Amino acid sequence: MATVDINNVTKHFDDVRAIDGVTLSVQEGEFLVLLGPSGCGKTTLMRTIAGLEHPTSGEILIDGRNVTGLPPRARDVAMVFQSYALYPHKTVFNNIVFPLKAQGIPKEEWDTRVREAAQVLGLEKLLDRRPRQLSGGERQRVALARAMVRDPKVMLLDEPLSNLDAKLRASARDELQTFQRRLGTTTIFVTHDQVEAMGMGDRIAVMSGGKLRQLGTPHEVYTESADTFVATFLGSPGMNLIPRNGYLLGFRPENFLPREAMPSQSQIETFRFDVKRVEYLGADRLIYGIVDHAPDDVISIARLPSAVTFPIEVHENHEFAVAHEHLRYFDADTGLRISPQPL
Ligand SMILES: Nc1ncnc2c1ncn2[C@@H]1O[C@H](COP(=O)(O)OP(=O)(O)OP(=O)(O)O)[C@@H](O)[C@H]1O
Ligand SMILES: [Mg+2]
Repeated sequence: MATVDINNVTKHFDDVRAIDGVTLSVQEGEFLVLLGPSGCGKTTLMRTIAGLEHPTSGEILIDGRNVTGLPPRARDVAMVFQSYALYPHKTVFNNIVFPLKAQGIPKEEWDTRVREAAQVLGLEKLLDRRPRQLSGGERQRVALARAMVRDPKVMLLDEPLSNLDAKLRASARDELQTFQRRLGTTTIFVTHDQVEAMGMGDRIAVMSGGKLRQLGTPHEVYTESADTFVATFLGSPGMNLIPRNGYLLGFRPENFLPREAMPSQSQIETFRFDVKRVEYLGADRLIYGIVDHAPDDVISIARLPSAVTFPIEVHENHEFAVAHEHLRYFDADTGLRISPQPL
């Protein structure tokens, strides 16, 4: 177990700023999720923590020790890569044992440690197989077992679930979280899937364009999004943003309801809503339309639980509302949250 401090780290590849001044502290035993769109610098940041890339500027501290100049093997960090590669000709046992050999761990310990890791990840019966005889999910677990077998201070997992189908992914998420809690290993987990991030992270670090946009608990980044990027990246669909008097007014689809469906005691802001399209998703209905006074190309979305059976027709101009507590304000130029609201 260890802390990880990333102090003002920048990484340039020629003219690409892959990481741009990121400062971030990961607590001991924490499961931190690094979330952001493709190309935002997630893998580069992980590789920099692991020592596979040298930062252009800034420092990496592990357990308070400056490791910026140290090679990967001196950092006691294990990384599972996005394209985790198992040795195809080695058995599962030999794949998992490999880091122990490479690290010069005494031979007497190998068997016990491999079996422990295999047991945690449900691989005991597969130790004699080769990777091609395994399912995608099992291979992924072998890659995880190989990372955890040497009991590293820090585990870096770069989209380790990306090759799994949706169902397997859900159970792999579950397993991964359970075993991280059991081991208590400080873990940084990369994903571009916000649902995965919300469900798994103790905290989420949201990145875009090489910058850290916000760091907080899933609840904080969702309900108190620091800028329009975070507000629209989180949620499906993301937050509605409407230009108003030089700022942007934001509200989430699930808080945007027909006036009739609002609790009568709440303080509300009402909007005429010109309904363009209705989409049924089973559990919910999405209503697409244009809010009164908003430009024609700014589509807003309301998300109504199917239990709200209120009829809503296309081409209808309906009165919708948002409770005051759910309104958010952002600077139109910088995109930053204006708190609590403009004067
Ligand atoms: N070795 C390299 N040389 C040049 N540019 C690079 C190199 N590695 C990454 N980049 C660039 O740096 C940026 C960040 O890349 P990175 O791989 O960290 O993104 P990512 O967030 O992991 O994306 P993804 O979700 O697609 O894996 C991208 O613009 C990428 O093209
Ligand atoms: Mg990546």
